[in-house]
Amino acid sequence: MIYLDNAATSFPKPARVYERMDRFLREEAANPGRSGHRLSVEAEAQILQARNILAKFFNVKHPERIIFTLNGTDSLNIAIKGVLRAGDHVITTVLEHNSVLRPLNALAANGKIALTKLDASKEGLIDPENVRKAIRKSTRLVAVTHASNVTGVVQPVQPIGRIARESGALFLVDAAQTAGVIPIDVEQDLIDLLAFPGHKSLYGPPGTGGLVVGERPQLVPWREGGTGFDSESATQPEEFPFALEGGTPNTVGIVGLKEGVEFILKEGLERIQNHERSLVRKLRDGLARLSGVHLHGTSDVAKSVAPVSFVVDGLDPQELSVILDQSFDIAVRAGLHCAPLVHQALGTFPKGSVRLSPGYFNTAHDMEQAVSAVREIQSQVSV
Ligand code: ALA
Repeated sequence: MIYLDNAATSFPKPARVYERMDRFLREEAANPGRSGHRLSVEAEAQILQARNILAKFFNVKHPERIIFTLNGTDSLNIAIKGVLRAGDHVITTVLEHNSVLRPLNALAANGKIALTKLDASKEGLIDPENVRKAIRKSTRLVAVTHASNVTGVVQPVQPIGRIARESGALFLVDAAQTAGVIPIDVEQDLIDLLAFPGHKSLYGPPGTGGLVVGERPQLVPWREGGTGFDSESATQPEEFPFALEGGTPNTVGIVGLKEGVEFILKEGLERIQNHERSLVRKLRDGLARLSGVHLHGTSDVAKSVAPVSFVVDGLDPQELSVILDQSFDIAVRAGLHCAPLVHQALGTFPKGSVRLSPGYFNTAHDMEQAVSAVREIQSQVSV
């Protein structure tokens, strides 16, 4: 199979992720920090190492301010519901995934917050000046995706972060499509809350994710419970990461995530980024040569990440994806990609588009196969 659905989750994972998780689960998987025995202490040390490596990766000064979560959606919900108070105003964009839109829409529908959704330009970019214009006295949060999961277009996070910081608002970045492919520096980019999945370009297993909580946000924990210490205290401890990490963590997943990040460090982020860009270029160039194929996003691959979305005249996106799967053994994702407003802006609502998202383990040959499969499907349909 040619797997081109890495924007949903990366597959396969580096071999070292499988090997380490298998060994950990067989030989080391005690409950971390709960008991005094060696295995428990060692499991806690593994979690600490994972936090440290992620802290270096995103330039987080205090590793304990990275909390482990289930996935990007979990991180975003913890951030959004944790920081917002009644009467707050939030600025977000039409580029967001439902993991940002739905929690915000629900809070707005309940009358708790006021919500502004900024439009993107034709190229799929948010203009930081529009963020500035939308700021109100009551703006608590600016929530922006680092790159659309439909178009792959990378957003100007640093200028937006500066505007948020100057206005006293918090800046939340959804790095679902960028963590592991584009360098992210929470200090330089003035990010207060960075939500990232572990299972996409960081190569961890499903069920992993994280949230970086800067020093400015005051988060109310939504999940309270055991932390392995301070058990006599009637309420959740305030220390990070325990304030937001009640319950037994996904140790085996976190250990796998650590291996994934170590794989990236060994390969080099730049090399990964360059390879993915070359695949995207090949894919876009090949598809652009087919008449009746309409590509979204930008042709400047330096300004985008892997998702390549398109529609084909006369072909239903879902149907095309099924034919790619069943007749060509190519796995892609079609439809709205949980990002309905992007498709409304692109004029592809409600059917959406076909999305091919190559990853580091794909080859140039895979891209040629994908383009020739689309060409063949087109030719059969137009016969
Ligand atoms: N958010 C993931 C995607 O874009 C699941 O496919």
